[in-house]
Amino acid sequence: MANETIRLTQTVKGAGCAAKLAPGVLDKALCGLDLPVDPNLLVGLERADDAGVYRVSDDLALVQTLDFFPPMVDDPYSFGQIAAANALSDIYAMGGVPKTAMNIVAFPAKTMDISILRTIIEGGLDKIREAGVVLVGGHTVEDSELKYGLSVTGYIHPDRILTKKNLQSGDILILTKPVGTGVIATAIKAGLADQVVTDKVTLAMTTLNRDAALVMENFPVHACTDITGFGFLGHLAEMVVGSGQGVRISAADVPLYPEALEWAAMGLIPAGAYNNRNFRGALVDFGANVSQRVQDLLFDPQTSGGLLIAVAAAEAERLVIALKAKGIDAAAIVGEVISEPFERIIVE
Ligand code: CO
Ligand code: CO
Ligand code: CO
Repeated sequence: MANETIRLTQTVKGAGCAAKLAPGVLDKALCGLDLPVDPNLLVGLERADDAGVYRVSDDLALVQTLDFFPPMVDDPYSFGQIAAANALSDIYAMGGVPKTAMNIVAFPAKTMDISILRTIIEGGLDKIREAGVVLVGGHTVEDSELKYGLSVTGYIHPDRILTKKNLQSGDILILTKPVGTGVIATAIKAGLADQVVTDKVTLAMTTLNRDAALVMENFPVHACTDITGFGFLGHLAEMVVGSGQGVRISAADVPLYPEALEWAAMGLIPAGAYNNRNFRGALVDFGANVSQRVQDLLFDPQTSGGLLIAVAAAEAERLVIALKAKGIDAAAIVGEVISEPFERIIVE
């Protein structure tokens, strides 16, 4: 449902992703606090991953995540779909199967018609239905800025948890969606993006990572994460730090939106990209041939981005073919895991 007159993104100060807490803020807030210790807490805050995992029995664990943010597109139905696809993504990145979800809503009831909220929730509901997930509840508060998202709970086998770490030397890295949605969202807010590019990026952001997750189940995948607010290199850094491995990325092989490249060259870079670079830039060595605009895009905060998968080299080509056969056209080999240099990212 397109709505020409209402611009959801205009009510928002700053980019959606940039409005998130700066990288490391939560770490600082939690520093020194007594975090819960429980032998059944398999993945918790001390080894922050895409989602938390709690073992219920020998063959069942719960995988739980939560994501919400202000709109990055003007169409309320699309925004609902994007928020839901994004929230579900962390479950898929862990190798889990999402089961239930709860809405989280902040709504400016004094200045916005309630029908807009209804349409947003309708978009979210349609997306979680597509994922086979049941809505079990939610919570709404009145706020000056519209925000929407979901907490999602899924099932996972305790022995089959895909974390970010566990990179192995020689692994091949595969990315499943193009990068540049943060720059394009900035162009949308500035009124520069036409309907064609808005539709293209909306389609990518509303596409579930479910099919990619289903395909990778049948391959020797060692690690996985999804690309969201920290950008391609920020999330890659999370895989690298503490893994004991380095990575080499071929910048020319990373799928990028051509429109985002153009706008990045014009300086339409969301604040989050600079935050991401400040946070993780010291880990990255860029080759002389990697242009500034490509570097900026590799730090561009993504909404509902693709999966970044580390797979055994011998099966990498076959995994890309299988992903493409499932309609994941952007799937591409973007780099490899190397033992030296230790825990650094080389972009050539
Ligand atoms: Co994630
Ligand atoms: Co998340
Ligand atoms: Co993961």
